[in-house]
Amino acid sequence: MYTPYYRPRRLRRTPRIREMVRETVLTRNDLILPLFVIAGKDVRNPISSMPGHYQLSVDHLVREAREVHRRGIPAVILFGIPEQKDPGGSDALSDDGIIARALRAVKDAVPELVVITDVCFCEYTDHGHCGPLSGHDVDNDATLSLLQQQVKVHARNGADMVAPSGMMDGMVGAIREALDQEGFTHIPIMSYAAKYASGFYGPFREAAESSPRFGDRSTYQMDPANSDEALREVALDVEEGADVVMVKPAMPYLDILYRVKVEFGLPTAAYQVSGEYAMLKAAAQRGWLDSDRVILESLTAIKRAGADLIITYFAKDVVDKLT
Ligand code: PBG
Repeated sequence: MYTPYYRPRRLRRTPRIREMVRETVLTRNDLILPLFVIAGKDVRNPISSMPGHYQLSVDHLVREAREVHRRGIPAVILFGIPEQKDPGGSDALSDDGIIARALRAVKDAVPELVVITDVCFCEYTDHGHCGPLSGHDVDNDATLSLLQQQVKVHARNGADMVAPSGMMDGMVGAIREALDQEGFTHIPIMSYAAKYASGFYGPFREAAESSPRFGDRSTYQMDPANSDEALREVALDVEEGADVVMVKPAMPYLDILYRVKVEFGLPTAAYQVSGEYAMLKAAAQRGWLDSDRVILESLTAIKRAGADLIITYFAKDVVDKLT
């Protein structure tokens, strides 16, 4: 009989020993919860493809923000669904728009909660693309001017951090310039630096009512087949002043996350997107997967690959189990 000399199983023998040698431990400070805010009063519309998530009117959003803070989740990222959409996404540029009102209400009620805003136009335009169109394509540089206006609205209404997600060339530089001009030099930018044109955003587009009316986002979001390109995208955002860089989606792109973390060593975020939530949730509902187990496993894997921060729809499901 062959007897091994070195036995890795020695360090797996008991739960205590396993805990002692565990390399990656998820904590509540890693979590950011996405929330959807909609016009109206006393509205709490369930999102069918994201069980457990809702479009919330501002009054319900404030209630939710209080609960999230009380339970120890440090941050939320807000997405607005305006009453009126138009070709230029004007609701996003107004201090009476949905996000401006939501920001004021949440920051007033729960000032300690870190409130991040998604900076993009797809939820605000009637055509569903991430900026104004020129022909059938998004006009990059016209979008930059609008992003500068949008981000000023967020900053003056209380955003703690802004997260541009439109994958426009130059968006981080344009936003940094606008914030600095208005005296918001202290507001960090979390850039969706490597964001892929992904089928995993499907449920989000139901939640945010933001599906493109024609075409898709592949002229601005990245080709899932590319990884060197992700490093070039991140490098540009870093040069332009990004404070945190994000990779999105998370689980199918852990290799990208790892490369970005190793190459740049910056605070790195990963977005476990709506489709990742939906598939785990759906399988768990059928009893095909053990929900608690796969939630923790997926988030730990994302952290192990290099994420310092994880945007996840599971934040409330895990937070009570974390230190
Ligand atoms: C807006 C935006 C999207 C997501 C975050 N910000 C949608 C998209 O690009 O179509 C997706 C998040 C998710 O699927 O959970 N540009």
